[in-house]
Amino acid sequence: MSRKSLGTIVVLHGPNLDRLGAREPRWYGSDTLEAINGEIRALAAELGFDVEIRQTNIEGEMIETIHREGSGAAGVVINAGAWTHTSVAIRDAVTALECPVVEVHLSNVYARESFRHRSVLEDIVTGKILGFGKESYLLAIRAIRAAVERKGPTS
Ligand code: DQA
Repeated sequence: MSRKSLGTIVVLHGPNLDRLGAREPRWYGSDTLEAINGEIRALAAELGFDVEIRQTNIEGEMIETIHREGSGAAGVVINAGAWTHTSVAIRDAVTALECPVVEVHLSNVYARESFRHRSVLEDIVTGKILGFGKESYLLAIRAIRAAVERKGPTS
């Protein structure tokens, strides 16, 4: 039986996350981005959402995707990678969103170098989940489901 979609969750992966699987498995685990995206798609469908997933290594492209995809979204999950610590331009794009936004990190950034302790997003997002590897994304999808349920579907 098909049911009405609760809307679209947009999942945004920033720079170097296309290298997951090969990149520093100690911090990021051994799953590829494709495998993680498969789990995100399965959970989103189970919870009643459509999902759009994007990865880019180009900051301007990330900003345009936030503008284009984020405006009609039921929720946004963003792992901005290294831009988390530096990009006021991405902060400004995220600030303009009206839906729940969850900042995600695979690693516990507070257990790492001090430059990773600062996030330019953390005070403007709905919430932040980090340190649980790929589960961080799945928890973020569940958090958006809870936020949408609290306020009712967008359409
Ligand atoms: C990351 C943490 C960032 O500091 C780093 O630059 C990344 C990944 C994480 O998911 O743990 O690229 O966002």
